[in-house]
Amino acid sequence: MQDLWINLFLAINHLEGHALSPKIMNNLNFPYLLLLISGGHTQFLKVNGIGNYERLGTTIDDAVGEAFDKTAKLLGIEFPGGPKIEEYAKKGDKNYFNLPKPIINKGGCNLSFAGLKTAVLKISKNLKKEEEKFHLAASFQKTIEDILYKKSKVAMKLFKEKNKNKNNSFVIAGGVASNKKIRSKLIHLSKEENFKPIFPPIDLCSDNAAMIAWAGIEKFRLGHKDKTNFSARARWPLDAKAPFLKGAGVKI
Ligand SMILES: Nc1ncnc2c1ncn2[C@@H]1O[C@H](COP(=O)(O)OP(=O)(O)OP(=O)(O)O)[C@@H](O)[C@H]1O
Ligand SMILES: [Mg+2]
Repeated sequence: MQDLWINLFLAINHLEGHALSPKIMNNLNFPYLLLLISGGHTQFLKVNGIGNYERLGTTIDDAVGEAFDKTAKLLGIEFPGGPKIEEYAKKGDKNYFNLPKPIINKGGCNLSFAGLKTAVLKISKNLKKEEEKFHLAASFQKTIEDILYKKSKVAMKLFKEKNKNKNNSFVIAGGVASNKKIRSKLIHLSKEENFKPIFPPIDLCSDNAAMIAWAGIEKFRLGHKDKTNFSARARWPLDAKAPFLKGAGVKI
């Protein structure tokens, strides 16, 4: 029994769980373009195979899920705030507040949300009427949609230049991929750019055991094995060669 356990042990990077999660329900071939939008990450990656990732772009400050959660907190909503912001947004006017879209026209498909967070903070301190909370949620939701639309378009162009295979798939995974309006915006873009959009089912977007088990199955099929003394890693990038792009003075 002890030997069996040792022979079957696999260390899974939970980001790889997100990256492969749509494969649980879809027949999906490598390579594909991945937009990982979660509580701690916002990245575009070219997924070439198991353990083979090329980062095309990343957030240089906050993650998009973090931006949802911080906005929610300012509106008095408990963590995780993403789903509630989506609900609030339905009741508000998306054009009520004009929010910034940092580095929207520069930095390739790198992203930034810190300036947006600061703008939301300032506005939230001066709300006059209760319904302005809904307007702020709607304006925030729309701004995120616009940023992801524009940056995904840039990432698609980069991916097409690198991918000689004509079948382009665009996978959107991570907790924020549950957001229905973000889904429809990125489906629309995929049609325009001739990509097949693929999402995990909503209940497999945020962290879940099935995606970890699936990543384990894929690695097991390839004959991978890890030592049982493998240490947990707080920071385990999918593309270990990509430069760290966070902090003051970062060049994009
Ligand atoms: N409908 C939604 N709209 C927007 N954001 C959402 C929605 N549902 C969940 N989220 C956000 O998704 C995040 C949680 O996703 P996930 O579990 O993938 O993140 P994490 O594991 O904490 O971060 P990471 O995977 O980067 O380490 C939270 O920030 C949450 O607010
Ligand atoms: Mg996660």
